[in-house]
Amino acid sequence: MTDPGATDHTPAFADPNDPVARGLLPMTAVVTGSGRLQVGGVDVLDLAEEFGTPLFVYDEAHLRARCREAVEAWGDGVAYATKAFLCVAMARLAHEEGMVLDVSTGGELHVALTAGVPADRLVLHGNNKSEDELRRALEVGVGRIVIDSFDEIDRIERLVAEGPTLGDGTAPPPPKVLARITPGVEVHTHEFVRTGQDDSKFGFGLASGAAAEAVERLGALGGAGVVEFVGIHAHLGSQVFALAPFARAIEVLGAFFAPLGLSELVVGGGLGVAYVNGEEAPPMAQWAASVRQACTRVGIPESTRVTAEPGRSIVASAALTLYRVGTVKDVAGHRTYVSVDGGMSDNPRPVLYGSGYEAFLPRETGALRPKPVRVVGKHCESGDVVVSDAFVPDDLAVGDVLATPVTGAYGHSMASNYNKVPRPAVVFVADGEARVVVRRESFDDLVRLDL
Ligand code: LLP
Repeated sequence: MTDPGATDHTPAFADPNDPVARGLLPMTAVVTGSGRLQVGGVDVLDLAEEFGTPLFVYDEAHLRARCREAVEAWGDGVAYATKAFLCVAMARLAHEEGMVLDVSTGGELHVALTAGVPADRLVLHGNNKSEDELRRALEVGVGRIVIDSFDEIDRIERLVAEGPTLGDGTAPPPPKVLARITPGVEVHTHEFVRTGQDDSKFGFGLASGAAAEAVERLGALGGAGVVEFVGIHAHLGSQVFALAPFARAIEVLGAFFAPLGLSELVVGGGLGVAYVNGEEAPPMAQWAASVRQACTRVGIPESTRVTAEPGRSIVASAALTLYRVGTVKDVAGHRTYVSVDGGMSDNPRPVLYGSGYEAFLPRETGALRPKPVRVVGKHCESGDVVVSDAFVPDDLAVGDVLATPVTGAYGHSMASNYNKVPRPAVVFVADGEARVVVRRESFDDLVRLDL
């Protein structure tokens, strides 16, 4: 397995002894004179004391800044991909900062609506939307539906004919829809998070002719007033560092898109983020600029609304996870295992994709890290690795709080209760205050569904 974070953008000169790089920490991170880490004006060791561990700590200013950056780079319509991290507070924050929200299941739709996000600021995705999910989307009037299959076209046609009604009893306007196209562009990332290639469960393939057939059917439904066919969508994959594939996708899609006379083109999400020392990801503005330049090159009209759906790049480096070290085991002739009180249940990315992270001690944030260790979790399998090849200060000891940065995306959102480990709390910090936005699960929560 290749690590999506360990591709050819990783410079070979990153010295493992170095302290954790400043760029991997949240925007408001400050190291005090004694070496302790503060985020949002709050000492993170105090947070571990007050709220327990493991704990997800999000820098609210960082989240807001990233949302604003996305809106500035892409303009109105840019969507936050909620799958990266979703709770009521995050949905509200992204909405407040002017982002549309991309939801890909009935569950994500429910959370966004519960947060009070207006339905017309939502985009519904999914390669297998159920009738119930589509009906709900029509009833609440979601802003866009991204159509993924011929079965879905049939379903929408049937549901619209059934005549869903809005809360006030009136018939909703035809839903705005986009067709998801698979452009046949491969990106250099882990195969599990690659989606733009021909052999994909997502969207309508361009090469096979499915895309042409889909736009013909949607065009006809548009003409009949069943839907309002507004655009084309393509998503290539996730944790993509190179901007060239996005431009390539536009080149491939250009000739297809231009004659359709549609007003919207969405390039999906996927902008990579740095996870470990030495990595560097392109800024949001550069991503948008390179896509726009490609649009101009292939003659996509200036009036087209060209947007994106970043998830990871909005939330990943806004957060870090705090763990408590429980055991330190030297296995002679092999390695030292440092066990923490979480693991694959709060961050399955290392075991799923072989993803790399940094580890450091927030009591001496800037310390050199000469000691190679493997940071592991408390789950009952050897794959339960948090940081496979970590470097830590020599004086790391049982009882220490250990932090892994850049855990804001696809950590909490993919968390599980494996081994009946309760999921961690999520805390937002800002201006010297911490607020719990998702409380820690209790043991009672673990049996709440059992009858
Ligand atoms: N739009 C669509 C249609 C997507 O499928 C995704 C991600 C995004 C936007 C947001 O992509 P982002 O900007 O976050 O890369 N669990 C994996 C990542 C799965 C991504 C799924 N789709 C991981 O932890 O690396």
